[in-house]
Amino acid sequence: MKVRKAVIPAAGLGTRFLPATKAMPKEMVPIVDKPTIQFIVEEAKKSGIEDILIVTGKNKRSIEDHFDANPELEQDLEEKGKTNLLHLTQSITNLGINLYFTRQPHPAGLGDAILRARSFVGDEPFAVMLGDDLMDDKVPLTKQLINRYNKTHASTIAVMPVPHEEVSKYGVIEPASEIEPGLINVKSFVEKPDIDKAPSDYAIIGRYLLTPEIFEILAHQKPGRGGEVQLTDAIDTMNKTQRVFAHVFNGERHDVGNKEGYLETSIEYGLSHPEIKDELRQYIIKMGAELEKEDKSKKKK
Ligand code: G1P
Repeated sequence: MKVRKAVIPAAGLGTRFLPATKAMPKEMVPIVDKPTIQFIVEEAKKSGIEDILIVTGKNKRSIEDHFDANPELEQDLEEKGKTNLLHLTQSITNLGINLYFTRQPHPAGLGDAILRARSFVGDEPFAVMLGDDLMDDKVPLTKQLINRYNKTHASTIAVMPVPHEEVSKYGVIEPASEIEPGLINVKSFVEKPDIDKAPSDYAIIGRYLLTPEIFEILAHQKPGRGGEVQLTDAIDTMNKTQRVFAHVFNGERHDVGNKEGYLETSIEYGLSHPEIKDELRQYIIKMGAELEKEDKSKKKK
């Protein structure tokens, strides 16, 4: 069956970005000038997804507004002859993908958020795309997972090796064997293991291709790590009755869910943004030289 649907959980409180996220959804925090959730929706579009359900919560209405038309703004831009900005604004509404919204009333974990998509997804395979990671590769990561699914018809989870001391921040796989380059047969999936108990350094990185059987498992899933219903636990249960593979991502991952990753990504994306790349480059070179000088004089003291 063709993969047509994706679910984007966006109900998190965004506590890592307080105070910015007190009244603004973390998904609307921009990288240069584009909200992070727009990158995710664009990845879905490039992957051939037709319908997206965004699972939101309180204070998230601006996400919906962002993808809606804004006639007042458009009229103003038109009158002032700001054609480029007008087209840019309209292009977000005309992405050619259907967006649906539902709410998760209480933040009860990623597994619970995904369960909200049950009737939207129905009996089809679907993608789950988390907003904290931006993925760059020639073929979008969600498309890579779809390509795997088209051959195996099995759930497939994107993973990537991370430094060992960071494994406890992620869901981690216990690999069994590599079936073909980059496709791993998995023994078990563990949510945020203690560093000394982690079965490998392969972390789950926020893109999943799941078969619909996951919903029945999620419906009965007991809260796990952090007292929340964990998607990783449900995937581990599913792996006992049907094959679940891990797909190794070789592209570039930008973790925009923490302050440092967010700033680094902003700089990197800024360096290829047509409007600001030249000035930003000059600024960074100047700043780098100043910082180096500062560090050298500190060492001398
Ligand atoms: C979630 C998942 C975790 C995964 C991570 C990837 O955790 O529960 O398995 O490794 O996303 O970003 P969160 O970062 O929401 O705590």
